[in-house]
Amino acid sequence: MKNILVTGGAGFIGSNFVLYMLDKYPDYNMIVYDKLTYAGNLDNLLDASDDPRYHFVRGDICDPVTVEETIQKYDIDTIINFAAESHVDRSILDPDAFIRTSVNGTYVLLEAARRLGLERYHQISTDEVYGHIPDGYSSVESDPLEPRSPYAASKASADLLVNAYFVTYNLPVTITRGSNNIGPYQYPEKVLPLFATNAIDGLPLPVYGDGRQKREYQYVIDHCEAIDLVLHKGELGHAYNIGTAEEMENMTMVEILLDTLDKPRSLIRHVEDRPGHDRRYSLNTTKIQALGWQPRHTSAEAIRKTAVWYRDNEWWWRKIKEGDFKEYYQLQYGERLAK
Ligand code: NAD
Ligand code: TYD
Repeated sequence: MKNILVTGGAGFIGSNFVLYMLDKYPDYNMIVYDKLTYAGNLDNLLDASDDPRYHFVRGDICDPVTVEETIQKYDIDTIINFAAESHVDRSILDPDAFIRTSVNGTYVLLEAARRLGLERYHQISTDEVYGHIPDGYSSVESDPLEPRSPYAASKASADLLVNAYFVTYNLPVTITRGSNNIGPYQYPEKVLPLFATNAIDGLPLPVYGDGRQKREYQYVIDHCEAIDLVLHKGELGHAYNIGTAEEMENMTMVEILLDTLDKPRSLIRHVEDRPGHDRRYSLNTTKIQALGWQPRHTSAEAIRKTAVWYRDNEWWWRKIKEGDFKEYYQLQYGERLAK
């Protein structure tokens, strides 16, 4: 492994992963391949911009010609596919791009990896592919995929394609299924950066429904370490769950966030729930732990660290929130907050 194509590398987790890998492996080259949708942002990669081991290519993973040209130009041996439309609420408003990128795009990447004989294809997946998980149970990797939102269904479809390429063509694949990531450079549509930046500005925090939904909030660099481990020690054809094994209700997350930023609870606003909102995700992480991974942050530590980053990095998020984001915010929250 030497020349790694990181699709979606200008997004939140992908950019954190690129910076982490450049720091850890002096002899790896990281080639970011990204369409730069609303969620892609080269500001995330400023710390890499002068590094001769980092290259950026603007391209769509659904475009087989540019994908193959890039693989050949940079002598790519490994693809890590972070590229996706990633926000559940947007998938409810308009699923089209979700299906195109995760289904068609994953197919294009798998086909390129097969035709050009790459060493490894790694798929970044999510706990949402398992669907809502009842209290008392945690998903294991062999569980059936029962996605419930268009986003989750698009991601589950990609996982199935990846498995099919392993079984049919013996393509050397691995999959990681991560829980909710939080940390620097997360687009402020996701709950943590949305709530942190709203709180900083004294704006309401729109909590869906009763806020008793359960998530595993994990620090993004912990997730990156686990991906790195699976790349180097994971078994081909296998999926690995990556989470904190510590579930937290959204209301608890909000309280930790507000306390960290020294903001009042009166900013909390319960609004109309998300349709089909999964109440609970929970991952059994025995398999990744057996490879030698443990998260370095508890969820509470991850929330505090993330809140402080947003407090200290207005340069990064304020221009996003003042741009096209305003239109999305009005569409998603205008009526909810007016009620
Ligand atoms: P993000 O939305 O911040 O970034 C996605 C990136 O993909 C952007 O840079 C975007 O420009 C790029 N992209 C989108 N469509 C593309 C296309 N057709 N061709 C090329 N590039 C394209 O997302 P994220 O939160 O960093 O998530 C990255 C991956 O991790 C996704 O696959 C997501 O499903 C998965 N995941 C996310 C979380 C989470 O909590 N954010 C948890 C588990 C798994
Ligand atoms: P989100 O960050 O969208 O991640 P996901 O839906 O993929 O888990 O949301 C995390 C949790 O926060 C989820 O239970 C939905 C909830 N949420 C709100 O209550 N209000 C919001 O404005 C958003 C964006 C999310």
